[in-house]
Amino acid sequence: MPLMKATPDAITLAAAALRRGDIVALPTETVYGLGADATNARAVARIYEAKGRPLFNPLIVHVESVEQAAQIAVLNPRATRLAAAFWPGPLTLVLHLRAGAGIADLVTAGLETVAVRVPNHPVALALIAAVGCPIAAPSANRSGHVSPTRAEHVRHDLGDVPAVILDAGPTEHGLESTILDVSGDGVVLLRTGAITAEDIARALGERVARTGETDTAADQARPTAPGQLASHYAPRAPLRLDVREVRPGEALLAFGADVPTHDGPMINLSPAGDLVEAAANLFAALRQIDATGPAGIAVMPIPAQGLGEAIGDRLRRGAAPRSFT
Ligand code: TXA
Ligand code: MG
Repeated sequence: MPLMKATPDAITLAAAALRRGDIVALPTETVYGLGADATNARAVARIYEAKGRPLFNPLIVHVESVEQAAQIAVLNPRATRLAAAFWPGPLTLVLHLRAGAGIADLVTAGLETVAVRVPNHPVALALIAAVGCPIAAPSANRSGHVSPTRAEHVRHDLGDVPAVILDAGPTEHGLESTILDVSGDGVVLLRTGAITAEDIARALGERVARTGETDTAADQARPTAPGQLASHYAPRAPLRLDVREVRPGEALLAFGADVPTHDGPMINLSPAGDLVEAAANLFAALRQIDATGPAGIAVMPIPAQGLGEAIGDRLRRGAAPRSFT
């Protein structure tokens, strides 16, 4: 039984597993990750195998400090500023890979850039410190499923494939990190997340472009986050968004106090209409409501300000036609 409460002993055990090339599931403040020693190509290959993830989709490298980030990536002035403002925290920076840093090619899918972040979670930080090397970790779900926000979600998706699943309870934010490409001349938001574009613009004092918004040669040469393919966060039942009236057979994913009458399965992401609470509940609620086997899932409108932008992004991907599994 690989699921273990994340005690110091369990962290020591997980570090030993990582050192011998096994993969382990670890909590972060965003979602649970499936980790491997980022310098061990065979261990990293196990992650792709376990998730059923396409090899062209690179992974995020988790480090314990800005100094460790600087060993594997080139921190330009923008990156240094963002790291000071938001690390440890739910911001992933896409940076130029430092040559000879020893990061396995499979981690970056052969790109010249690497995605790095310092997670704000005591268990993740203790594990990185204990193992003594950066940890490559995508979300610990089967490719195409919603990300796990509880250890039980990991066990449901991956069973006993991870050597250890470190259980530290539900994650704080419930949405994956914001991904920002600062490897080029501008600042490009590749994935919305817990840190908003406004937060970033304020910290940098410059505007943040969205993927596909700019059209320079450099932008065209740069791949967008490949995991951003349309139907990436799909539950089994089709999602219908911005719904105010529920159809027969549908389950209801509600938000706020003004819920339409409905007698089937219903989960309210935040009766108080709080976007932070709704983000933290989103993926668990999608799994739970999908498991009731509804004909469809009707989702009430979610305001698009602040965190609502990232919530809307994940819901639109969940509602997109299924072209990617
Ligand atoms: O919150 C998170 O970010 C979680 C926790 C575990 O840290 N991780 C996570 O990883 O969401 P994953 O693999 O599900 O998403 C990583 C995203 C993918 O969309 C991938 O394409 C993108 O990061 N990515 C990785 N390296 C990249 C690079 N060099 N350039 C552009 N995008 C990159
Ligand atoms: Mg993922």
